[in-house]
Amino acid sequence: MVDLHTHILPDMDDGAGSIEEAIQMAETFREQLVNTVACTSHYYPSKISLEEYVSKRSEAMKKLEHCNLALKSASETYLHEYLFHNPDLSQLCIFQTDYLLVELPCTVRWENSIYDMLERLIYYYHVIPIIAHIERYPAAKKSKGWIRRFLLLGCLIQVNAASVLDWKEWPRIKRYLKRGYIHVIASDSHNLSTRPPQLPQAYDKISKKLGEQYSNQLKMNAQAVIRGEALQKKTGAILE
Ligand SMILES: [Fe+2]
Repeated sequence: MVDLHTHILPDMDDGAGSIEEAIQMAETFREQLVNTVACTSHYYPSKISLEEYVSKRSEAMKKLEHCNLALKSASETYLHEYLFHNPDLSQLCIFQTDYLLVELPCTVRWENSIYDMLERLIYYYHVIPIIAHIERYPAAKKSKGWIRRFLLLGCLIQVNAASVLDWKEWPRIKRYLKRGYIHVIASDSHNLSTRPPQLPQAYDKISKKLGEQYSNQLKMNAQAVIRGEALQKKTGAILE
């Protein structure tokens, strides 16, 4: 299995706080039969330069070289005007692909500038944004129109495994899945206590509640993304 959203790298952000914790997370991934993870530590363009982030990330990845897990350099890039000061964003994308995990502002309302920035990523930088944990943004909750706009623009959409497993969140996630809004499930794991890796449990739930075909499609999507391939079913059901 492939997990496209993890904070396994030590001392990068609010994820693993030490090498020991990161190694324990790696062991958990392996026990869960997750063999490939994207290292999507937070990148805030207003706080640190891209060069500094990439060098810090390389150091952190080196510390986990022997953990018997395929680690792919990546980022969870916060969508901010300063991001566009960089002429090239390829180092932020999932290793050797055009896919970029993008975090949106957690505000109650989104301005059209959000859409404009995503458009620039796609048409100027030739990046395919994967919107991180769509279910967590109040603005997306308030107006589903945003999700449709993201899909029509060509973005992929990710949901966290924890939200799939949360009974309060599940009805909404189920609706999203059935409408074809969601392309990727990932753990967004930060540690082993409060935000642990639990991707297989989420796939199991989707398989039980919606059928194996749904969960298999999502697993295949994650594999396609990590290989830099186009998804077999790129757009959601609403667009068909
Ligand atoms: Fe995250």
